[in-house]
Amino acid sequence: INIQQGLLFAKPLPYDDEQKGLNTQITIRLSHVVAENTPKGLAASKFAELVEEKTNGVVKVQVYSNASLYNDENEFKALQNGEVEMIIPTFSKMTSYIPKWQVLDLPYLFNTDQKVHDVLTGPIGDLLLEELKPYQVKGLSFWHNGFKHLTSSDDPIHTFEDLQGLRVRTMPSKTLEKQFETVGATPVPISFSEVFSDLEAHAIEAQENTASNIYSKGFYKVQQHMTLTNHGILGYAVLMNENFWQTLPTKIQKQITEAMEDTTDWQFEQAILVNEKDLRKLQQMDDFEIYDMSAEELAHFKEKLAPVYDYYYANIDDDKVLEQIQQIV
Ligand code: LMR
Repeated sequence: INIQQGLLFAKPLPYDDEQKGLNTQITIRLSHVVAENTPKGLAASKFAELVEEKTNGVVKVQVYSNASLYNDENEFKALQNGEVEMIIPTFSKMTSYIPKWQVLDLPYLFNTDQKVHDVLTGPIGDLLLEELKPYQVKGLSFWHNGFKHLTSSDDPIHTFEDLQGLRVRTMPSKTLEKQFETVGATPVPISFSEVFSDLEAHAIEAQENTASNIYSKGFYKVQQHMTLTNHGILGYAVLMNENFWQTLPTKIQKQITEAMEDTTDWQFEQAILVNEKDLRKLQQMDDFEIYDMSAEELAHFKEKLAPVYDYYYANIDDDKVLEQIQQIV
């Protein structure tokens, strides 16, 4: 990997809107952990394309996918230290810094992708992004992946009882850990880049994810069962190093903002299409069974997860953001 070009930005350059900077090549290193053909991977490439177009090639976005540069554990520090200019973690992975974002991890909070869009791209999304200020990180947008489902190795999951005693991989979010504890499973927070090998080694027996992540990372090769639960959402915060942002001329900031707005609109539509397409591919796989929970089973599962809300109210809900979301969904 050639990361030399981005090292220019180890120190902020003294750009000036009027005469300097605009002819200098600016490189944004963008690191993410998923495959390229996923809702996040595709949107990262789209953003790179739009930024280059809108800035007439002055800004180049160099995308590093598949955790080839940084993984879940070190990407936020790398962003803060200016080792990369952009990362796109799930909001769940940011909850140790911003506990309030756990609201988005609550089970069965959203019913449709449209409602996710309305919340994440509206005033509530803006309010949540403001929480990044103390970290010298600029929140450019929220993106969506889709609704999460469960996969398991030996036995299919038809009811919550089937999860009891299983070691289930989660993203690092107390609310997600609580979700699995509530159904009697053992949550195991693991970096995304380790999930495939840990499933293969049976260090974990189940995991939750969207169809696009399950398909693009080949989890169907090491898990035999998938249960369509739609129990929660997987979404992203698009983050930029604040010092880097401040070094950019106003004109370029504006062009980047426009590119991000266009990408975000495109991204939400693309996320739905990619997950539909990848679910169809998963349905065609041999040796991979997909179980569609009945309405009754889903209602039962949902009811069983209700105590996660009690946990949220008791530990996190300090500004009634859940109530604001519930007025929309
Ligand atoms: C996961 O860790 O399961 C996902 O967050 C990966 C991703 O970024 O979509």
